[in-house]
Amino acid sequence: MQDRPSSAPEGGPRHVAIIMDGNGRWATMRGRPRLFGHHAGARRVREVVEACPGLGIKYLTIFAFSTENWKRTQTEVAGLMSLFRRYIVKETRALSQRGVRVRFIGDRVRLDAKLIALMDDLEAVTAGNDRVHLTIALNYGSRDEVARATKRLAQDVAEGRLRPEDVDEETLPRYLDTHVLPDPDLVIRTSGEARISNFLLWQSAYAEYEFIDTLWPDFTADELRGLCVSYSTRDRRFGAVKT
Ligand code: IPE
Ligand code: IPE
Ligand code: MG
Repeated sequence: MQDRPSSAPEGGPRHVAIIMDGNGRWATMRGRPRLFGHHAGARRVREVVEACPGLGIKYLTIFAFSTENWKRTQTEVAGLMSLFRRYIVKETRALSQRGVRVRFIGDRVRLDAKLIALMDDLEAVTAGNDRVHLTIALNYGSRDEVARATKRLAQDVAEGRLRPEDVDEETLPRYLDTHVLPDPDLVIRTSGEARISNFLLWQSAYAEYEFIDTLWPDFTADELRGLCVSYSTRDRRFGAVKT
């Protein structure tokens, strides 16, 4: 596997998070059902994952299904769940052979047992990989994640494992689904919407954002490269003043 980190933009993002939006509109523009767009969107993921090592991106986190997406029609939700199952079955071999370590974040309780088993299996099969860390947010919502984290933290306090006076900014993230990941450096949202829609709220407190018009099924590795180059020119001050 030939990585080309030398071609990666100097000072590019190490962790990129993407809100993959616009599948429905992409399909509607073509007079096709929304699921047609979701299938086209799923096919874009491979090219983007494969572009990561060459761009110096070690962590890629993608928003596949939000805690709010259950509000969609039963047909769309069932179609998406079936697509996730098929995606895992179809991509497991390529992901593991390409050195991709896959993790899922989000609450699994509402997911069906078959899907959960496939997710567990993909995580286990790729657990030894370290070339790219792909995190898939599935039934993920930041507020839900923080609520679940707070519940566990409160349990630790109630059972004497944690003292309230020891809770600080370092403590809560250890309870988040993302506890093993660094914070995102760059958050990209496709489809022209300039909102976060409950994605990585705590983790992206100091991320750079790119809201681009491209619909997700049209997004390419070239476009990702352009955004990484643009990121590398930004001055991240984290509240300080450059001297
Ligand atoms: C993003 O595309 C994929 C999911 C939310 C599952 P959308 O389905 O939101 O596409 P638009 O926003 O309706 O075009
Ligand atoms: C955000 O997109 C969720 C995913 C991309 C999975 P949505 O299309 O659900 O967000 P809203 O409804 O436009 O805010
Ligand atoms: Mg949308």
